[in-house]
Amino acid sequence: MAEIRFDGRVAIVTGAGGGLGRAHALLLASRGAKVVVNDLGGAFDGTGKGTAMADKVVEEIRAAGGEAVPNYDGVDTWEGGQNIVKTAVDAFGKVDILINNAGILRDKSFMKMEEEDIDKVFAVHLKGGFNVTKAAFPIMRENNYGRIVMTTSNTGLYGNFGQANYGAAKLGLVGFMHTLKLEGARYNILVNTIAPIAGTRMTATVMPPDMVEKLKPEYVSPIVAYMCSEECTDSGIIFTAGAGYFSRAVLVEGPGVVLNAQKGFTIEDIRDRIGDIKKLEGAQHFNQSNEEIARIVSALGQ
Ligand code: NAI
Repeated sequence: MAEIRFDGRVAIVTGAGGGLGRAHALLLASRGAKVVVNDLGGAFDGTGKGTAMADKVVEEIRAAGGEAVPNYDGVDTWEGGQNIVKTAVDAFGKVDILINNAGILRDKSFMKMEEEDIDKVFAVHLKGGFNVTKAAFPIMRENNYGRIVMTTSNTGLYGNFGQANYGAAKLGLVGFMHTLKLEGARYNILVNTIAPIAGTRMTATVMPPDMVEKLKPEYVSPIVAYMCSEECTDSGIIFTAGAGYFSRAVLVEGPGVVLNAQKGFTIEDIRDRIGDIKKLEGAQHFNQSNEEIARIVSALGQ
């Protein structure tokens, strides 16, 4: 089988100055992609900024014979999103691949969470995904080619104490993907999501050193690069990856029950059937909301 390559492709990786983003950028560049290495260059909580992080990764790529340019804008502003994409267009003429990876943490129990902790995390993760994608999408549409990757988290999918802001923003990106996959399909713009687990500066504080060693960011990047390749024909998939483990996560809906609306039903009817309502045997995944509505209509007719 032929090697998967990205020659002639232009990729933007946000938050690529370290951790997972750096590993994604290095891998894409090593396979021929021209890469915009975006990073605000601040601390893991979103404070501060600088040029050193993005510059260092650009140097690494160039030293290995690849092509890259840095960008230091924050994804959390509209102008930042526009500028990141402008950097790609000015340097390389287009954008084919966008990996929305930039992220920060402001972990606190919900009781202690301040408004700024919520706003800042939503701005970087969720609005950040919108800001950069909004600027890149028209170019991809024009070129009839695009590969977009969102970065979610098992916190968003399943929950984690102290990460209400982060989990909500991260699952928001999954909702964003589900609509974008439909709107992009006609233009060969595929949108998928990675739920990574990796030892990075973001997780080093909560993981023991031997676990950080086992969870190298480089172990996540191959599936992200696959999602960015021409060989990927999927759209709307959540892939999980870490330490060599790869899987798919989905939202499913159980077969449910139908109560007779003509006869009417009460809170007690719900209580009496709650076990059946919650059952997941025979659960189904829907590719879009219309499919769920069609299933309800057909269940009512039975
Ligand atoms: P990291 O802290 O090494 O990387 C995040 C990068 O984003 C940093 O280099 C940072 O400077 C940059 N950044 C922060 N705010 C920015 C902004 N406004 N604009 C541009 N760049 C900005 O952490 P890591 O672990 O590599 O995280 C990458 C992504 O993966 C994040 O979205 C994170 O939420 C997600 N993730 C990571 C997991 C893990 O186990 N490491 C688990 C689940 C999700």
